[in-house]
Amino acid sequence: MNIGVILAAGASERFQSKVHKQYLKLNGKEVIYYSISAMQEAKCFDKIIAVVDEEEYKSGYIANKYNVLCIPGGVTRNCSIKNALDYIRENFSADRVLFHDCARPIIKGSTFSKFISLLEDYNGISMCTPIVDSLVTTKGDFVNRKDYYLIRTPEAFDFNTLYQDFDETKADTAIINQLKERSKIHLFQNNQFDFKITYPEDLFLAEQLMRINYVHTYQHKTAPMGIGRVLLLGGSGGVGQAISNYLDKNGIEYYAPTHKELDLFYLSVQDIIETCPFEPDVIINVAAAYANDESGLIETFDKIFDVNLKSNLVLIEYAKTLKKPVNIVVMSSSSSTKGRENLTNYSAAKAALNSIVESQGIILAKQEIYLNAIIPEKINTPLIQKLHKTKINTRELLDAEEVIGAVMAYAAIKEGGKLVHVRKGL
Ligand code: CTP
Ligand code: MG
Repeated sequence: MNIGVILAAGASERFQSKVHKQYLKLNGKEVIYYSISAMQEAKCFDKIIAVVDEEEYKSGYIANKYNVLCIPGGVTRNCSIKNALDYIRENFSADRVLFHDCARPIIKGSTFSKFISLLEDYNGISMCTPIVDSLVTTKGDFVNRKDYYLIRTPEAFDFNTLYQDFDETKADTAIINQLKERSKIHLFQNNQFDFKITYPEDLFLAEQLMRINYVHTYQHKTAPMGIGRVLLLGGSGGVGQAISNYLDKNGIEYYAPTHKELDLFYLSVQDIIETCPFEPDVIINVAAAYANDESGLIETFDKIFDVNLKSNLVLIEYAKTLKKPVNIVVMSSSSSTKGRENLTNYSAAKAALNSIVESQGIILAKQEIYLNAIIPEKINTPLIQKLHKTKINTRELLDAEEVIGAVMAYAAIKEGGKLVHVRKGL
């Protein structure tokens, strides 16, 4: 029997909030929700237990809302761990136990199942990270950071071994330090960005981190396998032309209507059904309408929003009529991350496009419509030079080819709702 324990009984002293940090909202759900759902998704736990503070335990709010067993914690984190160990001992016959701090919401179910499977070979496994800053003693003496790791969670253990060795009065906060037999421990090194919500800024950082995906532009040089027929909108623009060339070179069948054949300003599902010569497996929309603020915010609103935003809603509705797996790759912009001066409507339309991808992506993926957005920095196209009053150095601009890798990777992926950044030089 495997048990997952979520540590959530802390008092958030450093965070200094009225409500403990684990119950504050993070992208619309309580911080603790992410650990609960990752444990449920992992499918390797027979029981999930949340150790919560006395007040929460009495209220039963989280227990009811997320259908999770809650038990009361203790004054220190070690006391909370000890309470969980005793509770498990009394109520279950556990083989393995995994602990996770709910203040670390950026966690995947697959990490938990990996840790549980590693217990075949070890008695204890801890998530650890190399130190990136300089390290000294409090007296200022040099310490070689390469000799140290930071211990994070999850930490997973053979239940009986931990139960026998655990002493809650020890000062150690890493649970793995409690194991007496050191030959069967494993420090699982994680180089990826990973952090704990400690201060208020961390809450907002976590919100953004959860939404970030990116590609290295030097990757994806070859065409991904299994790309079917492509409907390419915006094929005559700079990026669109580069995509056309790429599809030609890789022998991928595609249809790229001119804006006379399919006008995105007045696009309807029926227009696409009547115009597209085949039922596409992939829809790529790189068409865009731009206007500087000088052209008038009200005057340009409809055109910019219909072409950059509404057309994508029409494409989604069209994809639904196909009743088969379809990948939709839409082109957002780095101006979606922060409203750009002089590009007010364009930035707003792209920010709204990101929002649509996030709102619809997961729901559509259940119907095998995989909707994702590529967010490139400025791309070296004739248009971009035209939009800028002063000439921009091309070293700051992405080559269209660098964006294609990301577009093609997401033309074949079986996931949706991702906002994928592409940066020059990354
Ligand atoms: N924790 C716990 N029981 C305690 C103390 C901490 O279960 N008595 C949990 C926290 O809820 C958190 C995790 O251990 O998920 C890591 O602790 P930390 O980030 O230090 O949270 P707090 O102790 O709440 O914060 P602070 O130290 O600032 O008071
Ligand atoms: Mg603490």
